[in-house]
This record gives sequence, structure tokens and C-alpha cells, in this order.
Amino acid sequence: MFELQDVSHAYDGAEVLRVDAWQAAQGEHWLLLGPSGSGKTTLLHALAGILRPAAGTVTVAGQDLAALGAQALDRFRGRHIGIVLQRLHLIPSLDVAHNLLLAQYLAGLPQDRRRIDEVLGSLDLAEKATAKPHELSFGQAQRVAIARALVPRPEVLLLDEPFSALDAFTRADLQDHLLALWGDTRPTLILVTHDVDEAIALADRIMVMRPRPGRILEEIASGLPRPRDRRSDEFDAVRRRVLDTLDRSLDRSSATAIRERLSEATYSI
Ligand SMILES: Nc1ncnc2c1ncn2[C@@H]1O[C@H](COP(=O)(O)OP(=O)(O)OP(=O)(O)O)[C@@H](O)[C@H]1O
Ligand SMILES: [Mg+2]
Repeated sequence: MFELQDVSHAYDGAEVLRVDAWQAAQGEHWLLLGPSGSGKTTLLHALAGILRPAAGTVTVAGQDLAALGAQALDRFRGRHIGIVLQRLHLIPSLDVAHNLLLAQYLAGLPQDRRRIDEVLGSLDLAEKATAKPHELSFGQAQRVAIARALVPRPEVLLLDEPFSALDAFTRADLQDHLLALWGDTRPTLILVTHDVDEAIALADRIMVMRPRPGRILEEIASGLPRPRDRRSDEFDAVRRRVLDTLDRSLDRSSATAIRERLSEATYSI
């Protein structure tokens, strides 16, 4: 479904991303985990065709993105790839339903208000259909951005820290929603996070990245059955393995800081 081959990108002569070879199969759940500046967003932008890497090939659903002109790329993205970026890019002058109708239009799909109401309902946003983006909390706005990405039933869903502004309970709730929606059309899901537990709870495979230049340090397949119990010994064993990998991707002091934050979070629930 996704394939990267010899991809690299640099800003002002400094390489920020290098991936020799990576593939994600249809329907897989991938989580990109890594410290700030390790190239997660850059990699996601390359997968979405938002960024054309300086070198290498990005293939999505059999299509080499570099072979598409700007218009064809927009159409391909609208139809096949759902994206939720760190900046949400909701249109401020349009209400929630019209932001979603616009996504249908841009994907070249017929207007289908029922689909929009269905997705809004599944994300607990039915009452917000006529709200403008500035009338939403940030967590609600994040959910609208997820709804907008899901409306065209994309084969691929790319999400850049979509739960970052949410408290632990809303976050777990939205993760469940996302898994349920994923069960609906089973897109290939690639989600960026800083959160180790979130990665283990959601992912089939975790890609741990390291900075300077951003590259894949390790791919970890958790093998945990679903639904996942964050308090189980098996979950804890994967957590330890991921933290050890992060230890290697970071300098020790920041790895220790992450560990401390994680244990605070565990004990405060
Ligand atoms: N447009 C740009 N111009 C120059 N440098 C950039 C640009 N975009 C990203 N970078 C640099 O590329 C590196 C990787 O950035 P990227 O946004 O991919 O990291 P990230 O892993 O997503 O970080 P975060 O967790 O903070 O979101 C960083 O060093 C960043 O400063
Ligand atoms: Mg980022």
C-alpha cells in the first residue's frame, strides 16, 4: 500500500530524513514514535505527497507520487488518502458540515449528507454540524478534522498527533472511536505520536525514529491481542522494549524524563 525507496530530504543542506526501504501493507496499523525533530511529520508529509522528497520514490496504492502533476496529485490525495495534520486547516467561515462537504467535493465525490451525518454521529459531533470552527473546543476541532479525513472512505489514513490536545479519558475514548471506524473500511493507518502507551494500544507495528537525520531506528511488532489491557504484563513487556529503543534514539537524560512522565501518568490514573 505504501512503499518508500531510498528516500531522503534536506533543508538548507542539513539532511532531516533518510529511509532506505519501508513498506506498509493494506489495512496495517502503523505508529510513528520518536523525539521531537526526528522527522515524523516530514515522513508523513512525504507519504501524503505534501512534500516531494529531494531523492527517492514514494509509492501509494501502486502510484508513484512523483509521476503525478499537481492537479492529479490533489485529486489522488482527495480520493485515496485521508490526512489529519498537526495544524487542522478547518475553513473558519464554513460550519462543520460544510467543511466535510468540501472534503467530498475535493475528492470528486457526489454530495452525500447522510455519510457526513453518519461520520459526525460516530465521533459524537452530531450536535456540532452547524457550528463554526471557532465555536469548537480544540478536542472537538481535532475530531472534526478526523471526520473530514474519514468522509471519503480513504484507503489510507495519515494522522499527525491527532489526540495531542485531549485529556486522558477523551483520548482513550477517541482512540476507541478511531478503531471502530477503522473496522468499518479498514484503511491502512499511519499515526504519529509522542505517546508510548498510545502507540502500543493502537499499533500493529511501531516505527521508532531517531533524529539528525530522521531515520527509522527499529520496527517493533507488538503481537498483542485486541482489545488491549494497558495493565497487563504483556503490555508492560512491549512498553519496556519500546522505551529501551527510545533510550537508544535519545540521549539518556531525555529518555529518563519520558520514563518519569510515563510512570506519573500510570500512577495518576
Ligand atoms: N520547512 C522546513 N524548513 C526547514 N527545516 C524544517 C522544515 N520542516 C521541518 N524542518 C526540520 O526537519 C526536522 C524534522 O522535523 P519534523 O517536523 O519532521 O519533526 P517531528 O518528528 O515531526 O517533530 P515533532 O515531534 O516536534 O512534531 C527538524 O529538525 C525541523 O526543524
Ligand atoms: Mg511533527
